[in-house]
Amino acid sequence: MPIMSWSDSYSTGVAEVDRQHKKLIDLINSLHDAMTKGQAKAVLGKILGELVSYCASHFAMEEKLFDTHGYPEAADHKDKHQKMTAKVLALQSQFEQGKATITLDVMNFLQQWLDKHILGTDKKYGPFLNSKGVF
Ligand SMILES: [Fe+2]
Ligand SMILES: [Fe+2]
Repeated sequence: MPIMSWSDSYSTGVAEVDRQHKKLIDLINSLHDAMTKGQAKAVLGKILGELVSYCASHFAMEEKLFDTHGYPEAADHKDKHQKMTAKVLALQSQFEQGKATITLDVMNFLQQWLDKHILGTDKKYGPFLNSKGVF
């Protein structure tokens, strides 16, 4: 069963952003699915790696939009991305060293972070970018 599913309430009003958020949700669900099925560490590690790199490219894409259009809340938003990046990189490093596993707590953390970030932080730039002609 998926731990997270797309809802229209997640829509930012920017199509490419929404597409990438759906992909992040898919990756979180894939990791959760692999965890519940007790998949091998190599399988979990591969999905975790995809999630880490997709997060990095997604954050970079949003930040480029902020810079291009002069989004006034960019600094705070970038700071939130940076903190999350540090957390997922630390998790990946711990995981690769065998010091951490993918648990339900980890999955809940990822799911709750993305939910809160999209609803509380990403959605704020929607109207601003729309006003700059970005849909
Ligand atoms: Fe986002
Ligand atoms: Fe964001």
